[in-house]
Amino acid sequence: MSASPFRRRFVVLISGRGSNMRAIVAAVRARSAVADVCAVISNEAGAAGLEWARCQGIETHTVSHREYASRDAFDQALARAIDRYDPHYVLLAGFMRILTEAFVTHYRGRLLNVHPSLLPAFPGLHTHQRALADGVQWHGCTVHFVTSALDQGPIVAQGAVPVLAGDTADTLAARVLHVEHFVYAQVVGWLAEDRVFLGERSPVRVEGVATRSFVSLEGAARQIDVAP
Ligand code: GAR
Repeated sequence: MSASPFRRRFVVLISGRGSNMRAIVAAVRARSAVADVCAVISNEAGAAGLEWARCQGIETHTVSHREYASRDAFDQALARAIDRYDPHYVLLAGFMRILTEAFVTHYRGRLLNVHPSLLPAFPGLHTHQRALADGVQWHGCTVHFVTSALDQGPIVAQGAVPVLAGDTADTLAARVLHVEHFVYAQVVGWLAEDRVFLGERSPVRVEGVATRSFVSLEGAARQIDVAP
């Protein structure tokens, strides 16, 4: 819990596997002079990502939602666990709980999430199945600031992947996950370098970055036909 005023401090919240958290840790470690992952916190004691973080020497905590009678009580306990680290940013990385307005307000401008779709398409759950059912040809992920409107906060960056013939929800999820890791790592790098600005009503601005859209073209048709 050593707090250096010179480094951006991140707390990461997970519920399971934690592959995005690993990508975040790698991105932060590549900038260890300016950034630190102080803690990984989960609402699930058995989350695989917790064990990985522990082995990396990162402090971990479980705040189980099952031990609290209400969402408010859980979110308050979660905030207490987070605030011990006085983080600059709280990163949701596969954290599968809906957060209360009070929690989101407390971390306004400091709380980010990765969502497995190109928002505003497919907020909520089962994004890959819904993308396949709708026949979209491009799918992907969004890293965004969290607001009280579920999966609707200001977008920081997006990553797109093609939907391929024969895709299942699982194959599509794996392709999206790959791009999630890339996009979240990029965003964490910008946060670590203090380049991300969230205005009151304007879109997010990232200093020195012209494009915040990424694409993974593996398997896609490489050529776009343009009518003469
Ligand atoms: C990721 O695909 C993430 O986008 C998704 O859960 C997965 C977690 O994987 N998050 C949500 O659906 C949030 N609504 P991970 O634990 O391996 O990072």
